[in-house]
Amino acid sequence: MQPLTTDDLRQAYLDFFRERHGHAIIAGASLIPENDPTVLFTTAGMHPLVPYLLGEPHPSGTRLTNVQRCVRTQDIDEVGDDSHLTMFEMLGNWSLGDYFKEGAITMSYQFLTDVLEIPTDRLAVTCFRGDSDAPKDEEAAAIWQRAGIPAERIGFLPKADNWWGPAGQTGPCGPDTEMFVWMGGGTPKGNPETHPQGWLEVWNDVFMQYSKQEDGTYAPLQQKNVDTGMGLERIAAVMQGAMTVYGTDRMQPILHAVESLADAGGDAHKRIIADHLRAAVFIIADGVTPSNVDQGYVLRRLIRRAIRSGRQLRIEHDGTFASTVADAVIAQYGGAYAHVPKQRDTILSVLQKEEEQFVAALKEGMKQFEKAVASAGAAIDGLTAFHLYDTYGFPLELTMEMAAERGLDVDSAGFRSAFEEHQAKSRAGAEKKFSGGLADQSAATTKLHTATHLLDAALRTVLGDHVYQKGSNITADRLRFDFSHSEKLTEEQKAEVERLVNEAIQADLPIRYHVTTVQDAKEEGAIGVFDDRYGGEVKVYVVGDEGAVFSREICGGPHVARTGMLGTFRIIKEESSSAGVRRIKAVLEGGAPTVDMAQAA
Ligand code: ALA
Repeated sequence: MQPLTTDDLRQAYLDFFRERHGHAIIAGASLIPENDPTVLFTTAGMHPLVPYLLGEPHPSGTRLTNVQRCVRTQDIDEVGDDSHLTMFEMLGNWSLGDYFKEGAITMSYQFLTDVLEIPTDRLAVTCFRGDSDAPKDEEAAAIWQRAGIPAERIGFLPKADNWWGPAGQTGPCGPDTEMFVWMGGGTPKGNPETHPQGWLEVWNDVFMQYSKQEDGTYAPLQQKNVDTGMGLERIAAVMQGAMTVYGTDRMQPILHAVESLADAGGDAHKRIIADHLRAAVFIIADGVTPSNVDQGYVLRRLIRRAIRSGRQLRIEHDGTFASTVADAVIAQYGGAYAHVPKQRDTILSVLQKEEEQFVAALKEGMKQFEKAVASAGAAIDGLTAFHLYDTYGFPLELTMEMAAERGLDVDSAGFRSAFEEHQAKSRAGAEKKFSGGLADQSAATTKLHTATHLLDAALRTVLGDHVYQKGSNITADRLRFDFSHSEKLTEEQKAEVERLVNEAIQADLPIRYHVTTVQDAKEEGAIGVFDDRYGGEVKVYVVGDEGAVFSREICGGPHVARTGMLGTFRIIKEESSSAGVRRIKAVLEGGAPTVDMAQAA
């Protein structure tokens, strides 16, 4: 029996890679990247795996598979089409220097045709066309043909389509091969190169065989990896014969919840509401609250855009609209994501509060609108309409409707140009934010990462065992560490923490790791996040020698080999982060410019 439901597809993928091809199932990570300030959200399954793709050994081996919740916000203003979602689930399998093109393509083909039973004639693939950096990927195309894909279903496209990474400015990258299913009705035509319409991309196998250098050239990589990603919502749409990702078993009930509140039509608005509030639920569940910066700002935009769309559908906003839809989301995803229903109360109250605040802003906007009417000639100018949109959340259509009631026009061309100018600005901001790339594995960040472990241990010594990591964020310049503790630290406590950390640095303690089960890690007294959903193996990093251990912590790494490389540790700020959580920012001064990495014990 082919898997059809979203839940069965998720499981079938993991089972296929584990049972038939020896992959270890690893837990999906948070939507908020740990220790990576260069991106706001986890955007692909490979994201939390960057250290391992760069050669750090993974505790679960060289074949991994998982389901990763991802958020991509680049196209937030375009959501509502048939195939894009702000939050999506990525099914992925990885080879860390294990199998390469032959293995990856054969497994992909087997899963698509054997497990999902998609007829070969409905499948097409694309491979890298080749350019001055790297040759045409004839190898991948030949493997596809041997597997059973006829030549006319194989297209060749340039880097823009068939190349993935590096995730940052430099690092692992390579050609990819994408798999498509014919959704166009009638007989499938050609391939995505010859007939771009009608083919839906469902899966991408990336062959990480190059490392992009600072000078822009591509050097062959020592460890060749495979990184794949399949869109669960898309493959569910394919398997369920749905025309769009909104037509699946898990999305339909959310849309119905929206429809039950609305007494006007408008499919695009319903989709925006379902998409944005679904993403908002997952983002809040991973610890974010609405604000005017970073992830909090994205969350705020998602909620407010959903509410604006609700206005278009004439939905009453008494503070319960967003939370009612969110409840439908929680009901659909609670089974697969146990952490989501656990935080139902928080999710609903965050949404309720944001909705109430936004509705108050809209009321204020009405006053501004009346003022604009009083001073308008025959039309409300574009800039005012944009101001009403941007600051008070008035959709243009709403302003036009209200203006028409008073016999006025709105300069919609002027609105659009103000809107585009604003978009260009915020895109430039987002690009800047993303330009730093993924997890920076430089000496500076590795040292700060090790210093974070020392800090964590020192805080527990000075303040007590109630101290647990609540968040960590490292840039090349500083570490930021959030931990559970209610009171402001005294000057003496801060000085004592600094002293303990610097003492550990001066002692030049060795750092080694070993791989063990979560249970055993707990028993040996390691601190860290005990996520044993899949009963997986973890790495425990130990600072110091047995008998004189300074810190013992579950962590993916990497870390420096000896504490003496760190320099001098200094706390630059200690402040409140949220209720019951304190935040420390600290720096390292004068450490080693290059470092060796900690090895297995
Ligand atoms: N990392 C690859 C992607 O996101 C698989 O498409």
